[in-house]
Amino acid sequence: MNRSTLVFAGIGAVAAAVLVFMVSGSRKPDHVVDVAVPELSATAAGGESLFIENCAACHGENAAGTASGPPLIHKYYEPSHHGDGAFHAAVMQGVRAHHWRFGNMPPVDGLEEQDVGSIIAYVREVQRANGIN
Ligand code: HEC
Repeated sequence: MNRSTLVFAGIGAVAAAVLVFMVSGSRKPDHVVDVAVPELSATAAGGESLFIENCAACHGENAAGTASGPPLIHKYYEPSHHGDGAFHAAVMQGVRAHHWRFGNMPPVDGLEEQDVGSIIAYVREVQRANGIN
């Protein structure tokens, strides 16, 4: 093997490593569950905007979950297990990690009770569209 072959082999190896890194990076899941999005009522559509601003960083687009927080479109959060009161409490007081391993949820500032109400309307409509009642 002469010198330039070695250099080319080196470049090839680096390129392969970068490619593997990129492919494995893009395989990292950006959501935890698959969510079907229904047509939303006006209240729920308002709630969706508030959700995107305040909750989606952790709970994900369409509340499908991220690496930092669980999906809310999940059987755990059906109304009989986590009623609306649990949502208000989560926003006002935060949540100690208990169902998952994402860590604690800090309280979310700057939302009125009514805002949380429309976020709940949004989550419930998406839950129902995904068979979570
Ligand atoms: C910094 C990340 C983060 C943000 C922002 C966040 N959450 Fe959470 N949330 C979490 C984590 C993590 C959990 C899961 C705790 C556990 O292990 O049960 C959780 C749990 C919850 C629960 C379940 C509460 C319970 O009693 O188990 C509700 C409801 C909830 N979040 C609603 C919201 C809403 C609504 C918003 C926006 C207003 C929001 N979260 C913003 C991280 C977050």
